[in-house]
Amino acid sequence: MPRSTRRHFLAQSAAAATIAALPIRGLAQDSAPATLKSAVAPQSAVTPGLRVGCCVAARLLRDDPAYAALVKQQMNILVAENEFKFGPIHPQPTAFFFDDADTIINFAEHNGMKMRGHNFVWHRALPPWFATYVTPANAEQVLVNHIETVAGRYKFRIHSWDVVNEAIQVSDGLPNGMRNSPWQKVLPNYIDIAYRTARKADPHALLTYNDYDIEGEDEASSAKRGAVLALVRGMQQRGVPIDAVGIQSHLSASPTPNPKYTYGPKLEQFQKDVQSLGLKMMLTEMDVNDRYLPADIPTRDAAVADVYTSYLRTALANPAVIALLTWGITDKYTWLNHEGSRKDGQPERCLPFDADLKPKPAFSSEYIALRAAARR
Ligand code: G3I
Repeated sequence: MPRSTRRHFLAQSAAAATIAALPIRGLAQDSAPATLKSAVAPQSAVTPGLRVGCCVAARLLRDDPAYAALVKQQMNILVAENEFKFGPIHPQPTAFFFDDADTIINFAEHNGMKMRGHNFVWHRALPPWFATYVTPANAEQVLVNHIETVAGRYKFRIHSWDVVNEAIQVSDGLPNGMRNSPWQKVLPNYIDIAYRTARKADPHALLTYNDYDIEGEDEASSAKRGAVLALVRGMQQRGVPIDAVGIQSHLSASPTPNPKYTYGPKLEQFQKDVQSLGLKMMLTEMDVNDRYLPADIPTRDAAVADVYTSYLRTALANPAVIALLTWGITDKYTWLNHEGSRKDGQPERCLPFDADLKPKPAFSSEYIALRAAARR
């Protein structure tokens, strides 16, 4: 057996052993191994259709077989952490790069998973040429060409597209709380253009508006939620196609009561408001930052797991929520470790699996929350 195949086999076996021994705190072990996707499997659900996933990186799927095996065993929907973004997929004005995006969507399809697209329009991850090449005169053509090319390539293969990401920034002071983004500057009606173009390019994908800091009980989160609702209501009034709202769910565990890191009635009301517009919702990028917690690992893991439990008790309760994705699957590769957020320099412990791909208390919390939601 060639070394690489043997390496893959051993990694798959190691991951399988991890799965088989999964401890689910407070729950009798099911007969089947407790994986996140088994918690929402049709046979275990009253309302099938809830999906669970994570973001992945093409490089890791290629180079880390244990990571790939864990993703395959746990998830039934994926999203690319970076490979579908404007900069990585459109590196030159007339050149696209699809290899990494293809790696991820082919992995998803080969393993029976759905695939989310993230994202067409964002104020970040723009290629260097954007600032010098894109002007008010050509911005619409650049945007339409980008969406037609990318959405067209993956037509009928994408579950949902984050067409526009993070367009609201109330502190920028623009009307309706709009972010003063590079797109806003050159093409003020970029949102309507983007969604109309996406609908034509892939009529099957759920067109999603995705944003962060809309989860907490604090005033700033409430103001941002109000602006998001106004945005999507306005789109509907103009006949602009939109099907879902993505609630990114980048959360924090706080050692002291803090309304920004408290999740409850205001989030629940926001979700009811979104549902009343006839829209679906997805929890698109969940992780729980432990930057404010002491270094002691059992303490951190328990506090992070408690946030998964309390947040998902609210956020998954609404039947219009159709998916939960974490932003990564293992602490080994979380983006938070590039944010320098812990003052003691300790790596973050924000995801269901630790850096050795072992399940943490947060895994049990997520599994139990998904099982409860699948029965709602
Ligand atoms: O691929 C290049 C590599 O070639 C180069 O050597 C290296 C050093 O410059 O940069 C690499 O690109 C980095 C990329 O991640 C891949 O690792 C970019 O600099 C870096 O900015 C990028 O960060 C990503 C960030 O979005 C900005 O796109 C994070 O991984 C990703 O987790 C983060 O994800 C966002 C969501 O898309 C939207 N919601 C918030 C979330 C967290 O910021």
